[in-house]
Amino acid sequence: MSSATPKHILAAPAWPYANGPRHIGHVSGFALPSDMFSRYQRMAGNKVLMVSGTDEHGTPITVQADKEGVAPRQVADRYNKVIGTDLANLGMSYNLFTRTTTRNHHAVTQEMFGTLLRNGYIFPRTTLGAVSPSTGRTLPDRYIEGTCPICGYPSARGDQCDNCGNQLDPTELIDPKSKINGETPTFVDSEHYFLDLPAFTEVLGSWLQSKSGQWRPNVLKFSLNLLDDLRPRAITRDLDWGVPVPLDGWRDRPDKKIYVWFDAVIGYLSASIEWARRSGDPDAWRAWWNDPGAEAYYFMGKDNITFHSEIWPAILLGYGGKGAKDGTPGPYGELNLPSEVVSSEYLTMEGRKFSSSRQVVIYVQDFLERYDVDALRYYVAVAGPENQDTDFTWREFVRRNNDELVATWGNLVNRAVSFAAKNIGAIPEAGELTSADTELLASSRASFAAVGEQLGRSHFKAAITEAMRTVAEANKYFSEQAPWKLRTSDPARMRTVLHVALQAVDDAKTLLTPFLPRSSQAVYEMLHGPGDWSGMPRIETVDEAGEPSYPVITGDYDTSFRWESVPVTPGLKLSAPKPLFTKLDQSVVDEEIARLSADD
Ligand code: MF3
Ligand code: ZN
Repeated sequence: MSSATPKHILAAPAWPYANGPRHIGHVSGFALPSDMFSRYQRMAGNKVLMVSGTDEHGTPITVQADKEGVAPRQVADRYNKVIGTDLANLGMSYNLFTRTTTRNHHAVTQEMFGTLLRNGYIFPRTTLGAVSPSTGRTLPDRYIEGTCPICGYPSARGDQCDNCGNQLDPTELIDPKSKINGETPTFVDSEHYFLDLPAFTEVLGSWLQSKSGQWRPNVLKFSLNLLDDLRPRAITRDLDWGVPVPLDGWRDRPDKKIYVWFDAVIGYLSASIEWARRSGDPDAWRAWWNDPGAEAYYFMGKDNITFHSEIWPAILLGYGGKGAKDGTPGPYGELNLPSEVVSSEYLTMEGRKFSSSRQVVIYVQDFLERYDVDALRYYVAVAGPENQDTDFTWREFVRRNNDELVATWGNLVNRAVSFAAKNIGAIPEAGELTSADTELLASSRASFAAVGEQLGRSHFKAAITEAMRTVAEANKYFSEQAPWKLRTSDPARMRTVLHVALQAVDDAKTLLTPFLPRSSQAVYEMLHGPGDWSGMPRIETVDEAGEPSYPVITGDYDTSFRWESVPVTPGLKLSAPKPLFTKLDQSVVDEEIARLSADD
């Protein structure tokens, strides 16, 4: 099943803000889908580069720092560690998970800014900025709240309305108030740089049109709608925390920085460059970014679509001189656009929006302390918000864990391996095959194409459903062939049945690896002995001259294992298996619901 010519595939999961721990709603959108996709693509023989990091600039960080009375850097340092640990524990196979406060990231962001400016896609303009009358300090958009002029929602923010989703300007808010002290801001002239989005209307339009039938329909529709009203967008802010504006007279200003969303999306490129330098070949990133045959898949929740299907492509096009104003590429050359913006819908929690402040939440760390990582990964794949808003319920989580992981897949592994271990002690040879045998083997082999096809298109639900169908078939085969009845009557037939069943188990563990890397590793060891099957991430501390050391996630994930059925080895010793998954008591449902705050 390995593809004839390996493709270079960039997997680009969104960068979580380093302003608090992540909950399972977050990671079901950006992280786990990207990892399932990447693990599959690597096994299919492609060259995957998965890079991301924490998003550490802008008001999301300064608001939290103000709340805690500490410096933004402290907040960023703390949650960079917390989030990195969580993502590593989820088994996220990042080639590099870094952060946006590195020197490298600042330099790459400034290079992008400079070339866009030179190509004419960034221009200065004077706008009205909000100022606090009592302190004289500028008030960033997110610090201002008021009534949405479009839908009338009373707590719209200065940058966007969370109710209708529209992007706003603080001057448009009805009855604007400072979130810091409730006073009414005054608006004064302030100079900013703008990204000329209208200069890309045409090229973005034909690019998006070409994706019809490939992208998830909701994502494409939303993206195309954005083109109806492209306006220049401010990419600097009145703020003291962010990437400095790389221009004389601006560089050292404490009160003007690059807008966090402008720098964050550039992270995909800067992290690729950082990864290449660490890998010892500083130009290695170019195979993913400059070669038009390479592919790039971006994974995120739907509140991030605008930035990945409109703003980031505009930045990439403008850098390459490919908007209405032409221009010439900077030193990074012509950069690839996203092949697909793979956006998830929202996950809710027991019928309510996740909310950290109202304690309608389960954080990744708490989840993993109590439950198996593969139980979460399974749930997200089979019941996640792939195409519509979806509710996470503890009842459904317990049911899927118990009925599907424990009673179906765990049970198959357990009954096949323990029966063979006890009665033979090794993987037996197969004798002559019956039609039931060949049918099961053929069906399990055929699953590789079917599951792979779905995984390659980020259709996780369909992919895991197909993989679990082969597990169910193997269970049925085992029950029908009833090897325990053959022990004395027909031991040769018993050995054949066990051989076939173990082959089906081995195939299923391969099919399930992208979703369930931890338990697939365990099954691999049962049937093949010790060895590294599912590459797992590790956290390393890196040092750069002139900046504080920081942790990164990295790992070696390129294996010789392929997305295919590999014959099991007769004679390989088997021992009694440990259970793959833990059955959960029904009381978990009430306990977990009781932890959520009761009020709405
Ligand atoms: N930090 C943003 C969020 O949590 C996502 C940024 S994705 C990026 O919504 F790539 F643009 F950084
Ligand atoms: Zn609104």
